[in-house]
Amino acid sequence: MKLCVLSLSFFFFLFLSIAYGLNANCDTQDQDSTLQVFHIFSPCSPFRPSKAISWEETVMEMQRSDQARLQYFSSLVAKKSIVPIASGRQTIQSPTYILRIRIGTPPQTMLMAMDTSNDAALLPCNGCLGCSTVFNSVKSTTFKNHACGAAQCHQVPLSTCGGSVCSFNMSYGGSTIAANLSQDTVTLATDPVPNYTFGCIQKTTGSSVPSQGLLGLGRGPLSLLSQTQTLYHSTFSYCLPSFRSLNFSGSLRLGPTGQPPRIKTTPLLKNPRRSSLYYVNLIGIKVGRKKVDIPASALAFNPTTGAGTIFDSGTVYTRLVAPAYTAVRDEFRKRVGNLTVTSLGGFDTCYSVPIVAPTITFMFSGLNMTLLPDNLLIHSTAGSTTCLALAASEIGVSSELNVIANMQQQNHRVLIDVPNSRLGVAREQCS
Ligand SMILES: *[C@@H]1O[C@H](CO)[C@@H](O)[C@H](O)[C@H]1NC(C)=O
Ligand SMILES: *[C@@H]1O[C@H](CO)[C@@H](O)[C@H](O)[C@H]1NC(C)=O
Ligand SMILES: *[C@@H]1O[C@H](CO)[C@@H](O)[C@H](O)[C@H]1NC(C)=O
Ligand SMILES: *[C@@H]1O[C@H](CO)[C@@H](O)[C@H](O)[C@H]1NC(C)=O
Ligand SMILES: *[C@@H]1O[C@H](CO)[C@@H](O)[C@H](O)[C@H]1NC(C)=O
Ligand SMILES: *[C@@H]1O[C@H](CO)[C@@H](O)[C@H](O)[C@H]1NC(C)=O
Repeated sequence: MKLCVLSLSFFFFLFLSIAYGLNANCDTQDQDSTLQVFHIFSPCSPFRPSKAISWEETVMEMQRSDQARLQYFSSLVAKKSIVPIASGRQTIQSPTYILRIRIGTPPQTMLMAMDTSNDAALLPCNGCLGCSTVFNSVKSTTFKNHACGAAQCHQVPLSTCGGSVCSFNMSYGGSTIAANLSQDTVTLATDPVPNYTFGCIQKTTGSSVPSQGLLGLGRGPLSLLSQTQTLYHSTFSYCLPSFRSLNFSGSLRLGPTGQPPRIKTTPLLKNPRRSSLYYVNLIGIKVGRKKVDIPASALAFNPTTGAGTIFDSGTVYTRLVAPAYTAVRDEFRKRVGNLTVTSLGGFDTCYSVPIVAPTITFMFSGLNMTLLPDNLLIHSTAGSTTCLALAASEIGVSSELNVIANMQQQNHRVLIDVPNSRLGVAREQCS
């Protein structure tokens, strides 16, 4: 497999590789309402690179896909309407984590990408031009395409009528997608969800679509949360495994049962113009014990411009609005001491000698999230280079948005509780 395709995101390219199921010794069953979450580089994942790539290359490629994802967040703010599945918007996906989902009767297993900032469920279906692994709807006795007049069809903007079937076109990263609006039984862990509505992909160009589809965990209409309202009450939590201990899986726990009862939480904020995103109120950042000086405007929530702070499972490295990043970085460098700083790709605080790093605490209303070095530093395989794995948002590309990304969330349980409008965070060693 050739990996140096500069215009393509690394992840997108990986998902083009022929996909199989999970590797045999990882094939334990999901229990109750809890699904295992695998990193795409996990030995369990069929999507991991077949040949070793260098650490520097991995870092660069992850930054490139982050850049594309930030562009996607930018595109969301221009939309006036609430957008469920289809629209002309640019969506992009960095499918860092995958879930095992069973679809149809009898069930067919697909390894779908998990995305907390997207509402859509999109699945490559039989007859698809440009897909590799497909769900074969003909073999399912419970599969059905929605008719043009169906209520669900009205929830999809720009839907068209292909014969009598409700269908839609959308762009997705560098890809275009043509899909039918379909339904079937979806089994999440051991919970069957009958008549689940999703986009059944019939044609795709480019390589942006995860090869076995994606499952959006956003909160808009037609999302998983809306469709499983009575079962899961728009409540879920997840723990993402570290990409350094690849043999482990994290978990996605659906519904209010079994959630940590005393977890610290912060209010969830709602932005009608970016309805699927999970916004929170970041009020300050500490480096070690010191609260750094950040202009209030860098942290303020503004539904009109899209400014504020979100939790996202698909961005790899946390981005901070430039003045916030600069303040954090300068204090971090000061704490580390008088050492030579180098840069690597988008990271500007790298060291070639061992360092003692301070913690960094994101202070939200009601909740402090203190990050230890494991969530802050990336080390080269040889151990010779260490970088602070945070970056500034770039001018023009979601430059007003702070994104708490997956590397910083690893080994934490993140609880999304929509009915009580709160997001919880607690440390949990899931890898
Ligand atoms: C999608 O809809 C078209 C009609 O527009 C139909 O011919 C095709 O079989 C449908 N695909 C699937 C997988 O049902
Ligand atoms: C949607 O895409 C299909 C397949 O590429 C194309 O034939 C059709 O004209 C498109 N429909 C619209 C409304 O753009
Ligand atoms: C699912 O859809 C089928 C066919 O449209 C219908 O007969 C059935 O009642 C629906 N089941 C549920 C639980 O909504
Ligand atoms: C992961 O599992 C493989 C195969 O079971 C084993 O060879 C390897 O040492 C494990 N790696 C770690 C970091 O535990
Ligand atoms: C930092 O280190 C350099 C070279 O080792 C030295 O010249 C400089 O005085 C030091 N600065 C401080 C503030 O310690
Ligand atoms: C967060 O940390 C700040 C400063 O250390 C402290 O004043 C505040 O009470 C903490 N908040 C919570 C909810 O623990």
